Formats: sequence, C-alpha cells, structure tokens
Amino acid sequence: MTVVKVAILGFGTVGQGIYNILKDKREHFKTTLGVDIEVAKILVRNCSKQRDKIDAALLTDNMEDVLAVGGLDVVFEAIVGDEPAYSYLDQAIEKGINIVTANKVMFAKFGLTLQQKAAKYNVRVGYEATTAGGVPVIKTMENILRVNDVQHIQGILNGTSNYILTQMRTEGMSFEKALKAAQDLGYAEANPFDDVSGHDPFNKLMILSALAFGKQPRWSDVEVVGISEITLQQVKEADAIGKRYRHIAEVAIDETGVIRAKVGPELIGQEHPLYAIDGVNNAVALDTNFIGTLTLVGPGAGMYPTASVMIEDYADMLVKKSALVTV
Ligand code: NAP
Ligand code: HSE
Repeated sequence: MTVVKVAILGFGTVGQGIYNILKDKREHFKTTLGVDIEVAKILVRNCSKQRDKIDAALLTDNMEDVLAVGGLDVVFEAIVGDEPAYSYLDQAIEKGINIVTANKVMFAKFGLTLQQKAAKYNVRVGYEATTAGGVPVIKTMENILRVNDVQHIQGILNGTSNYILTQMRTEGMSFEKALKAAQDLGYAEANPFDDVSGHDPFNKLMILSALAFGKQPRWSDVEVVGISEITLQQVKEADAIGKRYRHIAEVAIDETGVIRAKVGPELIGQEHPLYAIDGVNNAVALDTNFIGTLTLVGPGAGMYPTASVMIEDYADMLVKKSALVTV
C-alpha cells in the first residue's frame, strides 16, 4: 500500500475537520483510493495553545518544517488572510507539492497566479472549499464550462449572513446574538466583519468570475453592502408582508465582454428562487446557454462540509494521477 504524506496549514475549525476525517476514514481511503494517507505536519500560529487529541510532535509554527517533509504530496491550506498563505502555497508549488485551499481572501487575489504557476510546475490546485462551503460549485462549473458558457451567476454566498437573517426572522433573535451563535457554530470568519460587511461573499464572487469568465471585474467598481444595517424590526415587518431579506451576490458578462457585479441585501418575495434558502445554506444559480439555469443548494460553511470538500479535491487528484498511470 502506497503511503502518501499530507500537511495541514491551520488547525482551527477547518483544519481540525480535515484531520478528523483523514483519521476516521483512513481505512476507508485505503479501500476507495488505494493509498494510506498520513498527516505528516500541521502548521499553526501558536504551538503552545492547548489542543486536544493531537500528537504535539505533528505541530509546528514554521513553514520550513512543512516544506522539509520528504515526499509531501499535498498541503491543505486553512489559515487566515492573503499572506503568508499565498507565499506558503507558492513555495509548496515550487517544491512540486499539490495544494488544496479553503482560503478565499487569498484565492480571490492570487488564485489565477497560483493556477498558472501550478501548471508550470505540473502540480494540481483544489479550491472547491473557497466558495459556498460544501456546495460543489467549482467542480460543477469546471464540468459544465467544457461545453456551456456561463453568462450570469447569482447566489447566496455567505452562510453566516444567511444564518443571521434566518435566526432574526424565525427566532426573533437580535443581530448580535445570531452572530455570536454563528461564531460558536464555526461558520463565521476569524474576523466576522468580513461576513457581515459583504467582503467574504465578494471574494467568493470574484473566484467564480475568474472561473466563469477568465477574469474579474475591477474590484473598486463592485458595490459591496453587508447585512449589518438590517434591523430586527425591518426583518419582522418584511416577514409580515411575506418578504425576506437575502444577501445576494451577482456577476454577469455582456456580449462585449464587460463584467458587472454587485453584492448586497435585497428584499425578495416568494417568486424569487432564493426566497426559501434558510440557515447556513448557500445557493448558486448559474445561467448557461445549453443547460439553462442550474441551481445548487447546500451548507455554505462549517467544519465538516468544508473539510470534506477539501478532501474530495485531493481524492480527485489521486484518482486522476492513478488514471494517468494505468492508461
Ligand atoms: P480558524 O478557526 O480561525 O483557524 C485558523 C487556524 O489557522 C488556526 O489554527 C491558526 O493557528 C492558524 N493560523 C492563522 N494564521 C496563521 C499564520 N499566519 N500562520 C500559521 N497558522 C495560522 O479559521 P477556520 O474557520 O478554520 O478557517 C480557516 C480558513 O478556511 C479561512 O481562510 C476561512 O476563510 C476558510 N473557510 C472557513 C470556513 C468555515 O466554515 N469556518 C469555510 C470555508 C472556508 P492557531 O490555532 O495557533 O491560532
Ligand atoms: N464565513 C464563511 C461563511 C465561511 O459564513 O460563509 C464559509 O466560506
């Protein structure tokens, strides 16, 4: 049985999810993927933090230790912010190591650059977890773009905002209490300002724009509004007339190749396709030329939805690698 060594950057909500699944499903992966996946290193910011159920020898706060692992096949990146995450992944690619990331702040900015570099070094990049949590929007788009054009994308791309708006409407919860609950559930960013200001779904929208159209609009041209100005009173009044606030991100390309995008709350009625998307769920509606409109819905944040799609990204790499060998 081939042993493959992997590293995890970050041991918070997402990093722990990856570790737990790899540990719990180790035998399963031997059968389904034909390899024994061994976690060789875990990068954190603070090694002296109290952590349960983890061999302290695996931990490091120095990326050099990760890059020094012999035969490392992939790094799963789940740290915070564009740097040092980008530099770490750049270095990993230069060493011929595959990368899988959940970090949309970093990938919105540097995704295209990393993908170009990875192609040069013949390594793979997985980024399903950057956008819409457990919803397989990236792989679905990669598939349909082989045949279809995607002309317009509309969705709910932030689980925390949708959860907060839902709790305000269904439980009469205050904004602050609902945000605290989203943090406790592991949905919110380390700095939840990104969630409630609309910057998190903006980053995801830019990732989708790059995939669908090969480019992004100029960031400063995109209007970005969050949900923090929406009051409990407004949510109740809307509910009383059968309407709901949804935080919607939208991007489209016109026939001249100009991309327009916006991110912000909208008051919508029952006729709207995003009306019924409650809780931490995200939804992405893709308008395509041959299929028509395709809508994907599912958990947009949280430990296991996010960690599992990262491991799926890696499983995909392993399957493609073994297909190359046997063909
Ligand atoms: P988190 O719970 O705050 O954990 C972050 C982890 O990264 C911690 O272990 C922290 O180390 C480590 N870290 C942060 N900065 C670092 C640095 N400069 N060097 C080394 N380690 C560093 O965050 P999370 O919720 O797991 O999210 C991780 C990433 O996944 C973020 O980019 C986030 O946007 C993305 N994401 C999250 C979700 C979700 O549902 N939570 C979903 C999709 C994508 P310490 O433990 O020592 O502090
Ligand atoms: N904070 C993000 C959200 C995590 O709530 O959608 C998933 O990207």
